[in-house]
Formats: sequence, structure tokens, C-alpha cells
Amino acid sequence: MHFDAIGRVPGDPILGLMDLYAQDTHPNKFDLGVGVYKDDQGLTPIPHSVKLAEQRLVDTQTTKTYIGGHGDVAFGRLISELVLGPDSTLIREHRAGATQTPGGTGALRLSADFIAQALPGRGVWLSNPTWPIHETLFAKAGLKVSHYPYVGTDNRLDVQAMLATLSTVPMGDVVLLHACCHNPTGFDLSQDDWRQVLQIVRERQLLPLIDFAYQGFGDGLEQDAWAVRLFAAELPEVLITSSCSKNFGLYRDRVGALIVCAADAEKLTDVRSQLANIARNLWSTPPDHGAAVVATILGDAELKKVWSGEVEAMRSRIAQLRAGLVEALAPHGLAERFAHIGAQRGMFSYTGLNAEQVKQLREKHSVYMVSSGRASVAGIDATRLALLAEAIADVSN
Ligand code: LMR
Repeated sequence: MHFDAIGRVPGDPILGLMDLYAQDTHPNKFDLGVGVYKDDQGLTPIPHSVKLAEQRLVDTQTTKTYIGGHGDVAFGRLISELVLGPDSTLIREHRAGATQTPGGTGALRLSADFIAQALPGRGVWLSNPTWPIHETLFAKAGLKVSHYPYVGTDNRLDVQAMLATLSTVPMGDVVLLHACCHNPTGFDLSQDDWRQVLQIVRERQLLPLIDFAYQGFGDGLEQDAWAVRLFAAELPEVLITSSCSKNFGLYRDRVGALIVCAADAEKLTDVRSQLANIARNLWSTPPDHGAAVVATILGDAELKKVWSGEVEAMRSRIAQLRAGLVEALAPHGLAERFAHIGAQRGMFSYTGLNAEQVKQLREKHSVYMVSSGRASVAGIDATRLALLAEAIADVSN
């Protein structure tokens, strides 16, 4: 039979946790696995701004015909403004353009194929550690994947080691940087660190690919864009992958964009012709609904205000959960050991717990997190912080 020789591969380590968690009948289980925001009721709500925009679309949309290869034009302009800033010189000079993609992962996949096909011979450098799909996605596109250090064995950001390795990267290679809310660690670079990275990128003529999946979840919508805007202003060429999964709560609608910044409008058109060609062979044309929702929100001052308030509410709740967890660990004598949870940014915390401790947390306490020790802080139930701290203390001592 044709399929006889086909074996089984392990399931996705992050998505697999969603299934395990769903099957667990423990009344006090914790879902700190996949990066999904949850409210005080443990639900991942549809933002009110999204509901309003969807209603508007239902009332006014007249067709479901295909959108173009680069997606919805209004979406492309508005997402570029959100990422690069409304007054961006790049947008004004037609040096930046967005291609709508199915989620941030689609944007990464489009970048990977673009690099493989249009920039042959370039290696891709990832932080160690990084989001596991970064590893497999670039490798599957046939690219050589290498790593620069990011977090040391002491679970601290090691900028010096990062800079030292980046200084040795072959000229012209691609370096993937997390704009903010580093996944999986939650450790972000300071503005000074970013300037040093920029200097090396410039010296070695590297092509930065900036993954921007959590705009608004670190320090705020504008603040989180600081490094992206710095690189876009200072360098002639930058690739940015943007995701609307988290900040618009549109996870399953798959909304993202690959924003290309090029030296001039003519070159941008060349690059975009390649992207349209690659996208046509990957997914033909992108799904419309989620991007139409985003365009409706960002294109309407009132809706945008409602939405940015909702993003800020999610951001500040995560910050409170971080502080609350460290506080809840204090009676166990663990506040200092886990103080980094309070200092990290975004949905995730590299807790420093090892794979065995994570396993014990799951088996003894029904606390689900990725075996690397990554916890999705955004999934914590604020009313049960003491219980979570007790479980962590149990496996830590
Ligand atoms: C995560 O890292 O948990 C999220 O980015 C969701 C995903 O697709 O893995």
C-alpha cells in the first residue's frame, strides 16, 4: 500500500498542550501552555471593538470575491501605519509595503521562501532559545539555520554573548529579532542594547527580519514599536512580520502581514512582485475576514480608541499577574528566585523551571506549561495565584 512506510511524528509541543489541558478533569487546572490571553473568567474574549467591526461588516459587505495577492489595500496601509507610525517617512516615500498573510506564521513562511528563492545562500540566525516554529519553518524552506545566544544557563538575558556572536555572522546573512515580548523568554532588549545590535547589523550588512507578534503587550502599542521604527529609519532594508492574533484577539481568523522596507519605491515594487508570486503558490490569496475587521477598526477613530483601550487593559492585566505571582511566591521564600517574572515583558515567562519540574507540575498539580519552562502568564487565573505559587513551590524545593 502507498502509505505503508509512513510513520508517525510527534504532535506540536505547544498545541498538544491545549488538548492535554482540555482532557484534564482536575477542577483546579492551570493553562499556562499556548500563548493565548485569558480574562478573569478564564475565557479568551472577542474584543468589543472586533464585535462592533464584525457587525459593521455583516451590514455593509457586498461581496466575498477574492482579494488581491497582497491582500486588502486598506489593511496593508493601516497595519503599516500601526507598525511604522502614522507619520512614517517610509510610507510617505512608498518605501514600505505590507503583504497580508494568514497570521504572523504566514508572514514568517513568506519571508522564509522569499529569502530561499530571492536571496540564495543567505543563512538565518535565530536567538537561542526562540519560538520552536522559527526553527522548523526556516529549515523546511531549505535555509541554513544558526543561533546567537540570548539567555544563559542562569536564565538571564546575555546581551554581551548575543553581540559577540552577531559580530561573527557572515556578511549579508539574515538575523531574526523579536521586536518585543520575546517568545519564549519574556526578556527584552533595552534601547541601548538595540542600538548596539543595530550597529553590528549595519557593519555586517545583515538583513534584519523583525518578528512583531505582540505589539501592545509589552509597554504599550507605541512603545513596543520603538525598535522596529529605529531599524526602519536607520537601515535601507528591513523585513517585519506583524501579527494581529494577540492584540486583536483574532487568533483563529489568521491575520498578519509581511512589511517590507526597501531603499526606494522602485525596489519595493520588485520585491513585492516576488512576494505576490510566492504567496500565490503558498495560499493563493489571503483570507479576508480578520483583516477586514482590523482595517475597519484601525480606519475608524472611535473604534480604534475602543480597541487601544482593550489592548491596554490586557497589557496591564498581564503586568499585574506578573507582580501578583512574584508576591504569591514570597511566603514560600521564592520571591527573589522568581523576581525575573516581574521584570519580563509580554505573555511569556521563562520561569527557569526544568523539564522534570514542568512534568511534575502537570502530573501532580495539573499546571500546564511548555517543557522548556515557558509559562504563559496571560493564562493565569488571578483568583488562584496562591494555589499556583504553592504548586511551583512544591516542585521547586
Ligand atoms: C505560542 O507561542 O504559544 C503562540 O505563539 C501560539 C503558537 O502558535 O505557538
